Amino acid sequence: MSIRKIQTDELQPGMVAYNDIYCSRSGVLLLKKGTVFYPAVINYLRNMEPEAEIYIEEGLNKVEAAAVLLPVGATCHREKSDHFFFDGKEEMKGSIGQINAISPDVADEAAKEIYVQAYKTINEIYKNRKIKPYIKELNEVMDSLTEKLLDNPEMMLQIALLKKIANYFLSHSVNVCIFAAYLGKLLGMELVSIKELALAGIMHDIGKLDISPEIWGKKEPLTAQEFEQIKVHSLHGFMRLSSLGNIEKDTLSGVLQHHERFDGSGYPHGLRGNEIHLWGRVIGIVDVFDAVTSEKSYRNAVSQHEGLEILLSNSFQFDPELLNLFIKNISFYPIGSRVLLNSGETGVVTGIHRHLPFRPIVKIQDKKKGERFVDLSTELTLFIERILLD
Ligand SMILES: [Fe+2]
Repeated sequence: MSIRKIQTDELQPGMVAYNDIYCSRSGVLLLKKGTVFYPAVINYLRNMEPEAEIYIEEGLNKVEAAAVLLPVGATCHREKSDHFFFDGKEEMKGSIGQINAISPDVADEAAKEIYVQAYKTINEIYKNRKIKPYIKELNEVMDSLTEKLLDNPEMMLQIALLKKIANYFLSHSVNVCIFAAYLGKLLGMELVSIKELALAGIMHDIGKLDISPEIWGKKEPLTAQEFEQIKVHSLHGFMRLSSLGNIEKDTLSGVLQHHERFDGSGYPHGLRGNEIHLWGRVIGIVDVFDAVTSEKSYRNAVSQHEGLEILLSNSFQFDPELLNLFIKNISFYPIGSRVLLNSGETGVVTGIHRHLPFRPIVKIQDKKKGERFVDLSTELTLFIERILLD
């Protein structure tokens, strides 16, 4: 076996990296030893680190093997629609109307205003394919969102949990931002770090801009080669943010590693356990949770409860302590959501017991018996079958 040092312009598809390759500016791991140089990966490295020190194993070309080898348990959440943003003012107005229509009992005006601001800003970034002109606005909205979340988390969380917003892709970015910042708060992070984590959350999929919409929006299962292209989106996101020059290393790592999985089955580097940066582990959990519980996701939406079950049935992919913390503290049946009980009655959630998230207080409107409140923490024969999404 002979090992050879090569330049980025000598890279050929199918070559395999023999060493870990780091970003000379931020020190973040760009490519892990064993990475196959697909065309998208070569492009990425040429742009990101043109002078990178690359070693390859002579005579080894894994392209054919890698093309049929998908990582076990690897997931990617694609949306049905291929448009990531709203171009027309009318569509945006409709979306904002949906946020504003949320009852004041569920989310106050300040929370709704912050959500709308974040939603509009991320829309502008995707529409114009540029981050730099919006970075000040983005930082300001992250400040307000974080402060609101620390002050009164329920108000921000309810909007993210209700899933009432038309454009999945935009609302998913904002929701991941809210859930990630909330997990940061639960972890006892300092304000400044929570803001940075929120920024990583809202920008986590910015690399989608560099992936063909045909592949991202494809309804049929992806081929192995297409999946390889999708996998590069976290590298592209990292590259876009890193090129701004003033983004914290933790934020960059959160974006780069949001598809890494605790059991090593994720991408782009196949890191395991605590090799994955804390912020990557946080965003990984909330990204999957929001994707599987969102109506506009590529699969049909599932209830918060089923979303939790999906997370739990794949729990080996996530940091167990973080997953536990998230589950214990999130309201799976947000105030204002309509639910179906096992008695066949429907009702509206009006109160939540923080440590019994599956047993909220439900207001039932019965034609014969009139209005009544059922506290599921004491009525143990009753339970929620599912959330009604209409
Ligand atoms: Fe992603």
